[in-house]
Amino acid sequence: MRKNIIAGNWKMNLDHAAGLELFAEILTLINDDVKGDQKVVVCPPYIHITSLTQLLKGNPTIAIGAQNCHHADSGAYTGEISASMLKSSGAEYVIIGHSERRAFFAEDDLVIAKKLDSVLKNKLSPIFCIGETLEQRNTGTHFGVIESQLKGAAFHLDEAQFKKLVLAYEPVWAIGTGLTAAPEQAQEVHAFIRSKVAEQYSHELANELTILYGGSCNPKNAAELFGQEDIDGGLIGGASLKARDFIDIIMVFNS
Ligand code: PGA
Repeated sequence: MRKNIIAGNWKMNLDHAAGLELFAEILTLINDDVKGDQKVVVCPPYIHITSLTQLLKGNPTIAIGAQNCHHADSGAYTGEISASMLKSSGAEYVIIGHSERRAFFAEDDLVIAKKLDSVLKNKLSPIFCIGETLEQRNTGTHFGVIESQLKGAAFHLDEAQFKKLVLAYEPVWAIGTGLTAAPEQAQEVHAFIRSKVAEQYSHELANELTILYGGSCNPKNAAELFGQEDIDGGLIGGASLKARDFIDIIMVFNS
């Protein structure tokens, strides 16, 4: 049985007080109904991580994640944060390869591969993002793009390592645009990702892999998206900044 995950990506939003306030609201609204096999991951800016993990007080349903890390453990990399530092702050997940990192910080498959290695070495769970641009979709090259992102950044991992990944399919044209992928469009790509993982590793691993959808997911469209056979949850940007919306998305798995 695959684990369902709803991860909130706060991006570069909310100062410390506002971050604590939102998280406290989420904790209050999340009730005991959240199923045991479902995980909620909140990925705030780095500066909130320690405080949020302290507020968790061992709550097994929620975990804290980061939005990025450097691939080295330590060293002269001014302004950077390593996976080992995140681990020591109480984070359990790290988003790797988000399209905004690829587009604005020139991250390529090579550096993303190194980051995945470092996150796994430090016993954190990567949320590894892949997805095509609008141009790539319009020219019908999206399956090739997805395959090359998988090969370039993650297929060097052995089966035991790959098993620890959470994948997120995020079509770049749907992120923050209000243009959600149609459930069938997302399902088609999720099934494709699973088939490539089965080819590279095994059917068993592919069947157990949690693959999230991300891109303008909200309380109105979440049920239809998560109802697709190969969609196991969501990576939520804008809607994760509103406690009520985030909880309503989480509760899709409980209805
Ligand atoms: P969005 O962002 O939900 O605001 O589209 C998703 C993401 O970038 O992870």
